[in-house]
Order: sequence, then structure tokens, then C-alpha cells
Amino acid sequence: MENKTVQKGTATLTVNSKTVELPVLGGTDGPDVIDVKRLYAETGMFTLDPGFTSTGSCESQITFINGEEGILLHRGYPIDQLAENSNFLELVYLLNYGELPSKSEFHDFSRDVTEHTMLHTQMDRFFGGFRRDSHPMAMMVGAVGALSAFYPDAMDVKDEDQRRISTNGLIAKMPTIAARIYKYSIGQPFIEPQNHLSYAENFLRMCFSVPAEDYKPNPAIIRAMDRLLILQADHEQNASTSTVRLAASSGAHPYAAIASGVASLWGPSHGGANEACLNMLREIGSVERIPEFIARAKDKSDPFRLMGFGHRVYKNYDPRAKVMQATVHELMQELDIKNSPILQVAMELERIALEDPYFIEKKLYPNVDFYSGIAMDAIGFPTEMFTVLFALGRTAGWLAQMNEMTVDKTQRIGRPRQIYTGAPFRDYTSLDTRS
Ligand code: CMC
Repeated sequence: MENKTVQKGTATLTVNSKTVELPVLGGTDGPDVIDVKRLYAETGMFTLDPGFTSTGSCESQITFINGEEGILLHRGYPIDQLAENSNFLELVYLLNYGELPSKSEFHDFSRDVTEHTMLHTQMDRFFGGFRRDSHPMAMMVGAVGALSAFYPDAMDVKDEDQRRISTNGLIAKMPTIAARIYKYSIGQPFIEPQNHLSYAENFLRMCFSVPAEDYKPNPAIIRAMDRLLILQADHEQNASTSTVRLAASSGAHPYAAIASGVASLWGPSHGGANEACLNMLREIGSVERIPEFIARAKDKSDPFRLMGFGHRVYKNYDPRAKVMQATVHELMQELDIKNSPILQVAMELERIALEDPYFIEKKLYPNVDFYSGIAMDAIGFPTEMFTVLFALGRTAGWLAQMNEMTVDKTQRIGRPRQIYTGAPFRDYTSLDTRS
């Protein structure tokens, strides 16, 4: 990657009567940053920033978020335009290879992906080791990690060809893995991929076909599935992406690094919020109970939070949530679902929360997970599968970000520091002398 930050000035820091000049760097858009790389060498001090609220970890040219205005761009293109006009595979190409593909580039890329959708038969046997009632994300962490055992050659991440093979290969195999997880959890036989189908349709078919009957999804379902993948494809340095970068920074196998991203995505503060949100909407059950849950979300002595609300970066409406909301309405109309109690609760909850001073002051808006679960539910997935679907989309971003790091000459192994507040030096005492 060609580094493109420009120095725009310096920041002066005085500590222990020593003054250091730190470069202030600017990018294409977004806040400038203070480059603290030399801080320790020059002052003997680190910065402390638990949760990385004021810390950038890398230069990136993939995704840009303006959280104040609710803008999300991939390689410069706004998410709503991509969701409306593009498709997931084209977005995978854009994220990973930097530009929208030409017709022939897209043709070759699609062929490369669709020709690698099958799993090694030995890999298929791996699923049988899980309990049937395992959480699908537990199986996904294990299955993606296990894939690294089948592709030992992919270790050479510095080789451009190897990177392309392992990237396109994982994009190809993730739907097959996700569908097998679903089939295994409901005790149905695995359905093999069909390479003439689109990425989204192939995945849906592997999930919902049975040997006795082929599944022919409504085009609205295929469109909604593709859009779900697009909306979840990348979101710059979120927890799971940072996890992938950190794991890969040691030179670990790329698929093992992606498995660490799957693990990080699982939690309810991150990708697991889609599952938690739908469970919450079901628990609320009717619009009459909304005030009770709003009151709980505001009560500091109650750990309950409104799932699908709030974001570290967005202090405005998450642009993905807007598209997701429109997609849900489209889907309901196409499927002729007139009275969805879950959707009614969600819309009323959003309306009440957005007028409530607590949510207004804290700038808490619906995020992508607020409506995505309703779409996944309407498509026919059980809640436990929701985060697996998120992982399917986010694999595109994990790979792009990991590959970008691999070719960024400024990147070194990730190694944060700490401030130590444990016991000071003390001598070991033998067991007999301890009371
Ligand atoms: N309901 C009620 N209060 C909230 C919520 C919420 N959903 N989110 C934040 N707050 C309050 C929080 O209590 C805190 O209040 P105070 O300043 O009085 O202590 C303030 O808003 C700031 O919250 P924070 O936890 O310091 O913010 P954060 O940036 O560390 O956390 C978040 C961001 C997304 C984890 C958080 O908003 C949250 O827990 N939301 C619910 C879970 C969720 O929907 N997660 C999906 C995120 S988007 C998709 C993804 O990344 O995967």
C-alpha cells in the first residue's frame, strides 16, 4: 500500500519539563491525527486509551465513516448507492481490489469464486464433532479455524498470488460453511453448492433446500439477502476487524486470523446485537410494553440496554440502518406480510426513543442491527443464525483489511502497552511460611 497521509503541522506536548513536537497528520477526510509513534522513545511515556476511543491503529484506504453526519463510504462510494445498484460479489471485489471491476474483471472474479465453493470432504466430517445444539457462532469459529489446516500453502501472505487465492477461496467457501452449520443444527443433510446461481441465491438454496424438494426463493428474498451482505461487508476498524488485523500482524495463517474475527463478532456489543435485538423485540412483544423497556434502558442500576441502538462512531442515524429499514419494508410488502408484530414494535420503539431526551442527549440512534434481524427472520433464519449471516458479509471486509495491512510497510506486529497497578517487586516465600 502506498502511504498517503500528509503532515499538516505539529502538536506540542510538555511532560516532565520536556517538550516534544509530534506530527499532526491528515488523510483524505475525517479528523486529523497526532502521530505518537515516537512518544515513548522521546519521553519514556505511553498513551493510555482503554477501548481505543481516541486511538487510530492504522492508515486505511478501504472504508470511511463520518459518524457525526451518518456517512459510510467504501472506496469512496456511498453505502446507499452500493446497496441500491451493486451486488455483494462486486462489493467484495471493490473492497479487496480497490476499484469497481470492469465487465471482464467481474466475470473472471465471479468465476474464480464460484469455482471454489465446495469444501474438502474431510472438512465436512469435521461438523459431526459438534453437539447439535452448539451455538452456530461456536461452530463457525471452529470451522473457519479448521479451514487453515486444509490450506497450509496460504501461509505465504507476502505472495500476491497466494493472497488472491486465499481471499477468493474464503469468499467462496464461507456460504458453504455457514449453510452446513445451519443444516447440521437442524439435523438435515448438507446441500451442495450450485455454481450457476448467484452468491446470495446459492447460499439460500444450501440453507433451505432439502434432497426431497428444491428451494426456489422469491426474488425479493434473494435481493434482501444480498443487501444484508452488502450492508455488513465492512466498517473500518471495528472490534472484529481490529482483532483480525492484530492476529494476522504476528504472521498467523490468514484463515486462523479470520476465525479470531468471527469470535470477536459473536458478542452482543458487536455482531451478536442482531440476535439480541430480535430477542428483545420479541420479549417486548407489544407496543404497550415499550415505555417499560425504555425506562429500563435509561436506568443506570439496570444493565439492560436497547439492543440495536447506539454506536461508538455514529452520533447520527446509521446509514446502514436506513437502507435496512427500507429493505425490511420492501420484503414485507413482497412477501405480503401485512401485520408483523415485531416490525410494529421496532418502529414504535424507534419513534419513542428518538423523541426521548436521554437518547437525544447521548446521540443514540438505531444501528444496522436494529432492523437486520427482522429481515433475517422474514427470510426464514432462526435468531441463533443471525450473527453467522453477519460474519458471512463481514468476511469481505476482514480479508480486505488484513490484506491491506500485509502490504502496508508501516505496519508491525500489534502490541499495545499497559499501565501496571499490580503488586510491586517482592520476594517469593515458601509454602510452609505462608499463613
Ligand atoms: N441503550 C441505552 N443506553 C445506551 C445504549 C443503549 N443501547 N448505548 C449506549 N448507551 C449509553 C451508555 O449507558 C452511556 O451512558 P453514560 O454516558 O451515561 O454512561 C453512553 O450511552 C455511551 O455509551 P458507551 O457504552 O460508553 O458507548 P460505546 O461507544 O462504548 O458503546 C455500543 C457502543 C454499540 C457498544 C453501545 O451503544 C451498545 O451497547 N449498544 C447496544 C448494542 C448494539 O446495538 N451493538 C451493535 C453495534 S453496531 C453493529 C456492530 O458494530 O456490530
